[in-house]
Amino acid sequence: MTETDSHETDFGFRRVAVADKAPMVAQVFDQVADRYDVMNDVMSGGVHRLWKRALVNSLRPRRDLHLLDVAGGTGDIARRFLARARAHEENWGLPRITLCDINATMLMRGRDRLIDRGEFGTIAWSCGDAEQLPFPSGSVDAITIAFGIRNVTHINVALSEMRRVLRPGGQFLCLEFSRLILPGLKKLYDTYSFHVIPALGQWIAKDREAYTYLVESIRRFPNQETFAQMIADAGLARVKVINLSGGVAAIHSAWRT
Ligand SMILES: C[S@@+](CC[C@H](N)C(=O)[O-])C[C@H]1O[C@@H](n2cnc3c(N)ncnc32)[C@H](O)[C@@H]1O
Repeated sequence: MTETDSHETDFGFRRVAVADKAPMVAQVFDQVADRYDVMNDVMSGGVHRLWKRALVNSLRPRRDLHLLDVAGGTGDIARRFLARARAHEENWGLPRITLCDINATMLMRGRDRLIDRGEFGTIAWSCGDAEQLPFPSGSVDAITIAFGIRNVTHINVALSEMRRVLRPGGQFLCLEFSRLILPGLKKLYDTYSFHVIPALGQWIAKDREAYTYLVESIRRFPNQETFAQMIADAGLARVKVINLSGGVAAIHSAWRT
């Protein structure tokens, strides 16, 4: 049975009805939206910034590029890309950036943050589902998705959608938690994941359950090789993997041919 045919799916370590997963994920991000950015810094000791920088630096420059950041949340990737493009404006021109996320609360936090920095109209914000992207086929030059694909109910459907929206020759980049490739770190990583992160979630975001879901969903997510195969199965070509921090996270890149 494929992921798409099943009536049940994972929500962390729990099995839930397929129809229930998206509202449950929505509730997680509604609850943590206000503290989401600070929690990322605290949980990762700021390392998520390096991973995100690596993702944005992997985007192949192109004049007047249109980037779609799927599951873009509060806009971390979009803002980083904007800053990089501005630094190369002479060669790149001004990029078009569209951020799409299913959760309106996350989008509003991101927009507020951008306005607080005096930025208006630099990013187009769109509320939509990665499984049914509200964009025409072949309409963007590059797609990024950071820490988003793990939360989607049907990963294969979302991958096919992203392929559809990419123009031929377009680049796909996914940053996601992955599997440790340094076995010596496993015990430390497990203790940190299952004890420290939920406690930090309770302390800072006042939500232990949301951060328990986070660590469980990481363990349920396919390893580097399996996910690379899923990307290829969705019709994207030249799939490559870069491990970050010993496999704690990984960037998968691919191209639409
Ligand atoms: C962990 S956050 C990542 C946000 C941002 N990309 C970042 O790196 O900071 C995951 C995001 O995925 C979004 N999300 C979950 N399911 C989605 C779906 N089916 N379609 C679009 N976005 C989704 C959530 O609303 C949330 O904003």
